[in-house]
Amino acid sequence: MRRVLIPGTETSTSVLGFGTSALVGGRTTREALRLLETAFDSGIRHFDVARVYGTGDAESMLGRFAAGRRSELTIASKFGIDPMTGTAMANLAKRLVRIGTRRSPALLRFLRRHSGKAVQRGTFTPEKARSSLETSLRELGTAYLDIYLLHECTAQDWQQADLLQTLADLVSEERICCYGTATSLSETAAIFERPYPYPRVAQFESDLLSPDESADVQGKALAVTHGCFRRTLSAVRQFLARDQLAATEWTRALDVDVTSAEEISGLLLCEALRSNPDGIVLFSSANPRNIERNARLASEPPYESAQLAEFARRVRDALRR
Ligand SMILES: NC(=O)c1ccc[n+]([C@@H]2O[C@H](COP(=O)([O-])OP(=O)(O)OC[C@H]3O[C@@H](n4cnc5c(N)ncnc54)[C@H](OP(=O)(O)O)[C@@H]3O)[C@@H](O)[C@H]2O)c1
Repeated sequence: MRRVLIPGTETSTSVLGFGTSALVGGRTTREALRLLETAFDSGIRHFDVARVYGTGDAESMLGRFAAGRRSELTIASKFGIDPMTGTAMANLAKRLVRIGTRRSPALLRFLRRHSGKAVQRGTFTPEKARSSLETSLRELGTAYLDIYLLHECTAQDWQQADLLQTLADLVSEERICCYGTATSLSETAAIFERPYPYPRVAQFESDLLSPDESADVQGKALAVTHGCFRRTLSAVRQFLARDQLAATEWTRALDVDVTSAEEISGLLLCEALRSNPDGIVLFSSANPRNIERNARLASEPPYESAQLAEFARRVRDALRR
């Protein structure tokens, strides 16, 4: 698989990264570790996590997997959003949630939608950058992070001289290799508009239904994009299932059978990789077959650039509001 350099380092990693936001919850430890192993065995070397993922448990799961292979992986984690604090009540609630979500996919979906309400948001002070990093390193069982990101920050959060100084100090202390932002497309665009140091890594959602602002980051930072499947896959499939004429016409024009779910997901992933040629594309999956397939697509894209560009144009024309 193609590799990209982590800014300011000589470390390279895979262009396809595995996201761990859905790793914990609704599955056993053995199943979660198997997903990580499938990603690694398929050639994926970049793993994205955050303090808050898996109600605070995703980092330790990733740490368990990374033990003994740390130098072969790159790990990004984030600060600013905390999971529920470790009181006895919070721990009991977490245990109940874990048992409940294993039994009920509907409960799991509900909690994923509403989990933002159970966390503390937006603390981006120098002290928080240091204390959260110490917790992440301990949970991950590692001495350093390859990438450290401000999780869902605003442009103002990024533009604090004392915070940026602390992050630079953490690089000098070899606790992190580089840092940047992981926030919405609109805040990312605002960060890159202002006369302030650019983040060296900018992580943001980018799918075929997003506006074009993402292009502004190219060439200024390592762009790490995510969400190529999340809302677009079902939107495109539903559109083509409803409009048979369009499905026939797209299949003819693209020379790809767009009535096949596998072809649509393949086109979406390959287009995400094509439109972020110097960056990393993250995905998440709880299905080992999808993980292997995504890695194969990233290693040997079966589509021509012109096919992908035409697919992207058609999706935008048909579905963007
Ligand atoms: N602020 C931030 O920095 C931020 C925000 C959001 C996300 N992220 C990161 O980005 C990662 C990915 O985000 P996401 O999970 O929202 O978006 P995503 O990867 O676009 O969507 C995940 C969905 O795609 C499906 N999928 C994956 N591969 C597939 C394939 N080949 N065919 C069909 N379906 C497929 C998965 O279903 P299956 O399980 O059935 O495969 C899953 O339901 C997260 O885990 C997280 O690490 C970061």
